[in-house]
Amino acid sequence: MNLKKLFSLKEYNTFNIDVKSVYSFFCKAESELSEFSKTDVFKNNKILILGCGSNILFLNDFDGIVIHMQNKGIEKIKETGDFVYLKVAGGEVWDDFVNYCVKNDFGGAENLSLIPGTVGAGPVQNIGAYGVELKDVFFELEALNRNTSEIQKFNRKECKFGYRSSIFKNEHKDQFIILNVTFKLTKKHKLKLEYGTIKDELKYVNEPTIADVRNAIIKIRESKLPDTNKFPNAGSFFKNPVIPVGKFKILKSKFPEIISFPAGKNYVKLAAGQLIDLCNWKGKRRNGVGVYDKQALVIVNYANASGLDIFNFSEEIKRSILKKFDVEINCEVTIVI
Ligand code: EPU
Repeated sequence: MNLKKLFSLKEYNTFNIDVKSVYSFFCKAESELSEFSKTDVFKNNKILILGCGSNILFLNDFDGIVIHMQNKGIEKIKETGDFVYLKVAGGEVWDDFVNYCVKNDFGGAENLSLIPGTVGAGPVQNIGAYGVELKDVFFELEALNRNTSEIQKFNRKECKFGYRSSIFKNEHKDQFIILNVTFKLTKKHKLKLEYGTIKDELKYVNEPTIADVRNAIIKIRESKLPDTNKFPNAGSFFKNPVIPVGKFKILKSKFPEIISFPAGKNYVKLAAGQLIDLCNWKGKRRNGVGVYDKQALVIVNYANASGLDIFNFSEEIKRSILKKFDVEINCEVTIVI
């Protein structure tokens, strides 16, 4: 069994925080996890499931078992005239899966190109970008119930997907380990090009293909988001806040430049990046931590800052947004205390 004690997690989180786990379990196959889930070590410790560690901030050593999901495999399980169903192991790297889809001309996931992380982590926060969310290509998933060691299936409705959220972030938090995810992809594609910057990027391409969309998105992301190898970060640190329309009208009268997006009846979504930007945080650095100069929603660990340094810095940003706009912004990144 691949179980290690007092294991350094520095290389396993994209903020590069130098913390340790009491145990680290490396899961290369679903059967290994089923077996491990029956042991006393598993039953008597708290657990944390880690994919690529690209959406997590450790404030301390982890006093339990970190489960590193590293199972691999992509299998076509069904095909109809219009759709293909792919069952993908939770430990597959998300972008390898998107690349596989585009190479095989299976559509729907291309707007989600280059999102860091694993396939199994995707449903937990319903990853999204450029007008598409994971839920749009999701069919079902299988997860291990950590209390019973049974494998349970969840369909799309049961996952209760929302903006950067699902049942696995709320009522089932830490209870299930996602083993594999089945996606429903198109053979006759409907491209989603509404998100402003994609249209600009593709304006000289006649009849773009899903491969063109993937290339455009890779280009946009690389121009805006820092490379974690050079600038350790975890993508958007905060979620975009959703506020009532009434409150937005008041805000807009004071700050006409504020942009918004519809977010269901009576609500609008603001761009947290813009709010942070308007509070002049872009490019600011302190104690080795800073706000990325091309996208204010991203916090970067520039010089071996601790998890707590990063957290305190983020709290200061939060307070300044609250003070200036009376809007609360919340973390998108999972904070492990
Ligand atoms: N903006 C600014 N200043 C900034 C950043 C953004 O004024 O520093 C403005 C932009 O000009 C734009 C608006 O805010 O008008 C939205 O910005 P952008 O398109 O960059 O998207 P975002 O809302 O900041 C979200 C996701 C990203 C995803 C992009 C593209 C969240 C929390 N973040 O960012 O996801 O890539 O849209 O779809 O929803 C992630 O989750 O880690 C992530 C990077």
